Amino acid sequence: MQKKYTTTDIDQLNAEFAGRSPEELLRFFMEKYGAHLALSSSLSAEDQCLTDMMLQINSHARIFTLDTGRLFPETYSLLDRTNLHYNIKIEVFCPDTCALQRMVTEQGVNLFYESLEKRHLCCQVRKLEPLSRAFSGLEAWVCGLRRSQSVTRGDMRKIEWDEKHGLLKINPLMDWTEEQTWAYVRAHHVPYNKLHDQGFPSIGCQPCTRAVKAGEDIRSGRWWWEDPNHRECGLHR
Ligand code: ADX
Ligand code: SF4
Repeated sequence: MQKKYTTTDIDQLNAEFAGRSPEELLRFFMEKYGAHLALSSSLSAEDQCLTDMMLQINSHARIFTLDTGRLFPETYSLLDRTNLHYNIKIEVFCPDTCALQRMVTEQGVNLFYESLEKRHLCCQVRKLEPLSRAFSGLEAWVCGLRRSQSVTRGDMRKIEWDEKHGLLKINPLMDWTEEQTWAYVRAHHVPYNKLHDQGFPSIGCQPCTRAVKAGEDIRSGRWWWEDPNHRECGLHR
């Protein structure tokens, strides 16, 4: 039975780990939860840093990714390169075939451009339902969220109780800047998505991500046609 953390527990954990490194945070929770903890990786630069850190702590660390079926070719290539580089097999979760067939038959393959509701439906079928399967047997999930990524992430914390999924959510890079992320990638020769060199600071599904210009908000290329306050897929809100 998963432990439910109270608000006081969460406050205490955040106080305890304030100012401590992502590696210290990871080591503590990886030792505590073992195979009941996994990194949810989109193969972003942040998630690649966490993959590198977690595998240094334990070469059997669990890492999964949600393959929406609409990712960039460069992202699929990075998945293969990462597995090769670390000699691992990232667990891949795909959408349920029946739900996907029903959605694209009834609503079309590019339904997300038509309305916010349809975009949420697509994220539900391609990301959230597979995520709920990935959570089976888990007590804690690790994410690569950073507070400075977006207006929607300003109030997020390093350690949170994920009420919706009944899991502890650990965001070791919450306080990191973009510069710190890239300094780690360079220092540790971490494999990264080639699209980052072509104006894509934040990468999701291909039809819902575009390049941004220098100085633009790093997530402005994600669901760019929507109000900035709605630009989350439901994974974190
Ligand atoms: S999103 O909600 O807008 O798509 P973003 O791309 O910023 O999220 O990623 C934030 C974190 O969500 C990632 O660091 C990762 O932990 C998780 N995440 C996002 N997309 C995926 C995915 N396809 N597979 C696994 N985890 C993901
Ligand atoms: Fe669908 Fe776009 Fe969400 Fe990917 S990001 S699941 S393509 S709506």
